[in-house]
Formats: sequence, C-alpha cells, structure tokens
Amino acid sequence: MARPRSSYVCQQCGHAALAWSGRCPGCGEWNSLVETRPEPARRGRSAGAAASRPIALRDVEAPAVDRLLTGVAELDRVLGGGLVPGSLVLLGGSPGIGKSTLTGMALGNLGAAGHRVLYVSGKESAAQVKLRAERLGEAALGVPALAETSLEAVLAVLEAERPAACVVDSVQTLHAEGMSGAPGSVGQVREAAAAIMEVAKRIGSAVILVGHVTKEGAVAGPRVLEHLVDCVLLFEGERERSYRTLRALKNRFGATSEVGVFEMRSGGLVEVADPSARFVGEASDAPGSCVLSAMEGTRPLLVEVQALVAPTEIVPPRRVTNGIDRNRLAMVLAVLARHGGPSLASADVFVSVAGGVRVDEPGADLPVALAIASAHRGEPLAGPGRRPLACFGEVGLTGELRHVAHPERRVGEALKFGLAPVLGPEAGERIEGLTAVPSLRAAISLVAGRGAKLRDAA
Ligand code: TYD
Ligand code: MG
Repeated sequence: MARPRSSYVCQQCGHAALAWSGRCPGCGEWNSLVETRPEPARRGRSAGAAASRPIALRDVEAPAVDRLLTGVAELDRVLGGGLVPGSLVLLGGSPGIGKSTLTGMALGNLGAAGHRVLYVSGKESAAQVKLRAERLGEAALGVPALAETSLEAVLAVLEAERPAACVVDSVQTLHAEGMSGAPGSVGQVREAAAAIMEVAKRIGSAVILVGHVTKEGAVAGPRVLEHLVDCVLLFEGERERSYRTLRALKNRFGATSEVGVFEMRSGGLVEVADPSARFVGEASDAPGSCVLSAMEGTRPLLVEVQALVAPTEIVPPRRVTNGIDRNRLAMVLAVLARHGGPSLASADVFVSVAGGVRVDEPGADLPVALAIASAHRGEPLAGPGRRPLACFGEVGLTGELRHVAHPERRVGEALKFGLAPVLGPEAGERIEGLTAVPSLRAAISLVAGRGAKLRDAA
C-alpha cells in the first residue's frame, strides 16, 4: 500500500508545502514548517458519503432558532443576541485576560437557566477549574467539567452528553490521536476544530472554543480557524488594569461593531453598562488630557486620551502609544508640525487611552492632537467649570478636520455628562452643543485661550 504522503504545514499561516524548506513559501517565516502526516482513515472521511443534491434557497427549511442567552448581557450583545445553537465561536485573548472566567460565568448562567452545559478544560485540572468557579458563585459551581486533552475523548463526551452549550478551554490543548504535531500546531488545531464543528452541528450544540493570542495579536495557530468558525471574539485589555473589552472580529449572526466592556473584580467579570460614566469620572483637567467622544459599534463611548511630551536627546525620539495605533500618532504629529501645532522632533511623545481601552477609529485624531498640544504647552484644555474638553474628528493630511460617523450621537453622549461645547468637524446639519471647526489649526487656536474662548463660541 502506498504510504500517505506527508505535507509540511507552516505553523504561522497554514501554508501546506510538499517538501520541507527552511522558509515558508507562503508567509516567509523561518523554521515554521512542520511535517504533518495525514491518517489514511481520516482522509477517507467523506469517501462513503452519498452525493447530496442542491436545493433552491426558497425551499430550504430554516426553522427560527431560539438563541441561548448567556445571562452575561455584554457577551450576548456582542454575539448579536446570544449563542446560536449549533454554532462555533472562537474566543481569543492573551493569557490571564479572563477568557476562562467569562466562559465559566456564561456556562454557569446557562446551567442555572436549565440548559445542559459542559466545560472541557485542557489546561487546568478539574480542581483548578473549581477554584475559579468558587470565586464566581453558586451557578458556576453547578457546571459539569471535564479535564481532557484527547480530541476523541472530548468528541465522545459531546455525543453522549449533548450539551446545549459547551466550552473548550482551550482548543490549542487538544490532541488528535494518530496525528503528528504537538497540541496547538496548525494541523492539530484545525483537526480539532473541524471535528468539534461536525459534532456540534449534528447535535445542535453551541460551542465556544477558547484560543490564546500570540504577541502579534493573531489568535495563535487558529488564524486558520477564523474562516471555519461562525464567530470570532477578541477579549482585550491590559492585565494589570481592570477594564476589558470584548469585540467581534467576525460574526455570521450579528454585527461586528458591538463592543462589550467589563471590569475584572474579585467575584468575576462585572459588566460595565455605562462605561462613559466611568471613564469621564476619571478624566482630569490636567494638561495633556482630553476626552474623546468615540463610537464603539452602535454605542457612543467617552474615553480619556492622555499625552505626555518630554524633551529628549535620543534620536529618533520615542513615540509610545497605548490604546491607539502608533502609525496614526506619527501622522498626527506630522500634521501638527505643519499645521499650527508644535514641532516635536526633539521630544518623546507618549499617548495613552486611559483605562486600558483600545480605540480603533479615525475620530481619535483630534483629541490626540489637542492632548499633545496641551501637554506641550503645559496648559490644560479644560473648559468652563474646569470640565474636561470633549472632541472628535479625523485629521486629514492637509490639516483639515474630516467628518466621522454619527456626530450627533457623539455630541449627545458628551452633553449627557455635562461636557459642552464639543469640538468636532462640520456636520452638514446643526447639532446642538457642537462647536464645528474646519481645521486642526482652527481647533488649536480655539483651545489656546482655554475656557474663555470656548465659552464664547458655545
Ligand atoms: P482567567 O479567566 O483564568 O484568564 P484566562 O483564561 O484568559 O487566561 O483569569 C484571569 C485573571 O483574573 C486571573 O489572574 C485571576 C483574575 N480573577 C479575578 O480577578 N477575579 C475573579 O473572580 C476571577 C475568577 C479571576
Ligand atoms: Mg484560561
């Protein structure tokens, strides 16, 4: 019998080559190809299947399925209204961020609501899982747990238990028998996810696969899973800080723009229903502080942007960011230097979004620019009553302020917290409380005299 041919699979990008080489032809990574030998039995998986017939979409039966509400409101919202039975969700996040805590809480609530649940732990022993559940309370303690790393054993338990919801923590610890490659390698992870998906779809289980994220931010190995699963969630935040954000990178059953905000407390994750109140409450009127009125999905969110400018001898000077894109900062600094702001060629610049939140939107340009200008001058931006200044707007390369989505909701959110007036780009319509400025230069000169000018403009 002919020996099944090995292929060499890149552990970074999943590229399969027929021969080993030192460098992956797919992504250029060095030493990332690992020999993967297909099992003859696994290969023949579809051999005996009868050919199925395509059906016109109008004749397809699509019974309305009830979603499973996890009882963690922010998680349900990001999922698009709860878990869809038979779906596969990949939950990524760096170690220690709270993935096991979040999934433990969700299963606890589902179990308490009378659904069959199952928690498969590959990393931690059942005793360790229990220790966490003790912190989460009675509901979490009722979740049946299985400490297992063999894929076949997990599949057998899934078939036998037929849970409505199941968590596999993590997919990188599962090991398929008869497959070479360490647990967590591309081949193993792909095999595990595909096999679990097949069973989950058949028995109508909603499965959450937990996966770690590499330092580059990709769900390690499981990049290759992103196309396979129905929904990819990313749990982010800084370990030392207590705020966590949950966002969907992909969602077949809902929008990808929703963001859930949590706080890690001693009794588990607490949903922050009104994050703006938290972040604005912490905002100060010190130089270098500015409030960004951001849109996170359909929800406006106020966050504090802080900047520090410090003279340096180092060439090139340091540009350090936390929560915003570093290239975006470089662009804002360049525009500042050309269009009415300071030139900071011999200064280190640090910009950070307070609370460990990440904002990925062009509307952050103006607050970043104003915070830097304020830090450079050593003058606060605070307006009347020494309330922090709220603003938003994309800065164009020629120094103009550009329209960003939902100006009325951004302004409304700031007004709700008494932050008026709000600086922003021209909106095309009149918005109560918005002080529209055409350019970065105009915004800088408007805030240069601080409170007085702003008050007049309002
Ligand atoms: P964990 O969910 O184990 O993270 P992950 O599965 O993503 O690796 O928990 C992360 C941290 O949260 C851990 O350092 C302990 C802390 N924690 C709390 O602060 N409060 C709690 O109630 C729990 C369960 C954990
Ligand atoms: Mg964990």
